[in-house]
Amino acid sequence: MLLKIAKTTAFVALTSCALNAADFNAQAEKDRLALIDYFEAKFKDPYGNKNTFFPYSTDDELKNNIISGLKHEDFSKGNYAFSKNGKVSYEEINEFPPYEEFLENGEELYNKPFANGKSFKNCFPNPDVVGDYPYFDDKKKEVVSLTSAVNTCLKDNGEKPWKTKKGKMAHLQAYFANESRDSEKKVNIQIDSKAAADAYERGKEYYYSQKGYLKLSCATCHVQGAGQRVRNESLSQLLGQTSHFPVYRLKWGAASPSNDGLGTLERRMAGCVKDQGQVPPGTESKEMKELLYFMAYMSNGMPVDGPDIRK
Ligand code: HEC
Repeated sequence: MLLKIAKTTAFVALTSCALNAADFNAQAEKDRLALIDYFEAKFKDPYGNKNTFFPYSTDDELKNNIISGLKHEDFSKGNYAFSKNGKVSYEEINEFPPYEEFLENGEELYNKPFANGKSFKNCFPNPDVVGDYPYFDDKKKEVVSLTSAVNTCLKDNGEKPWKTKKGKMAHLQAYFANESRDSEKKVNIQIDSKAAADAYERGKEYYYSQKGYLKLSCATCHVQGAGQRVRNESLSQLLGQTSHFPVYRLKWGAASPSNDGLGTLERRMAGCVKDQGQVPPGTESKEMKELLYFMAYMSNGMPVDGPDIRK
């Protein structure tokens, strides 16, 4: 009898342990599936569902510019996913992608030995790593972004860390992204512990919290507002918002030689927070990395699709 009880308890303990392990991403998974449902419903018939989803858009915009019937993977193209006009100019520019030279440069940086004879290969044996970042480091109890992993690799090898928004950092990440796309990697963010789930929740909190006198949150524009037009831009959707970086932006390309048009996700994020009238969190700060962790999780299962181009 005693043995039987012992066995049953062991069984219960084991199953509840196994359940917990699988459970850490339960909330995130619920959020992700709800988000997919929301966007699929929203773009199923934009004109027919105007009152529910697009009360501020014109009939002309909904009938003539917004593509209907979008499904999960379609959303990986940002606002070009749904904007007919945007899609045309996107496809034109993409015939000769303006980022080709950066890929070569990135590959060179990947192979180039550090002063100590090692190279990025020692830290990233395979360059197709993009869908696995950010991840939660359970020993250090912090989110590791691709940008911070690159800089840690440099520091660990006695090199100076790089600037995080453009230049070498963007070129190396463009090479990583392209390799990941070539090997058909998908976004694959893990939440395996309570601490990781907490970091995810803090990132989500940031995305949904209203700031400034306009009380805008990221979600105001990129969830509820997605598909609406702000001046000459259509607002992109949270789903698939991080899976195509780094990007070459026409707006960034026109500046000085030190500014070749290619930028990291952190650069884009900082710009968007500034446009909201806020001071952006540092590119390698805890806040930024947790925000990226949340956003990347929302794109789980979608193809890695960088580098890409944007207006
Ligand atoms: C007032 C509206 C507004 C708010 C609030 C806002 N954004 Fe944006 N965001 C834009 C516009 C406009 C663009 C350019 C068009 C597009 O791609 O959505 C953009 C672009 C982006 C992009 C690039 C998308 C791509 O496909 O390359 C990212 C990433 C982004 N925003 C993240 C954020 C985050 C994170 C926040 C909150 C901290 C935020 N945005 C808040 C208006 C906003």
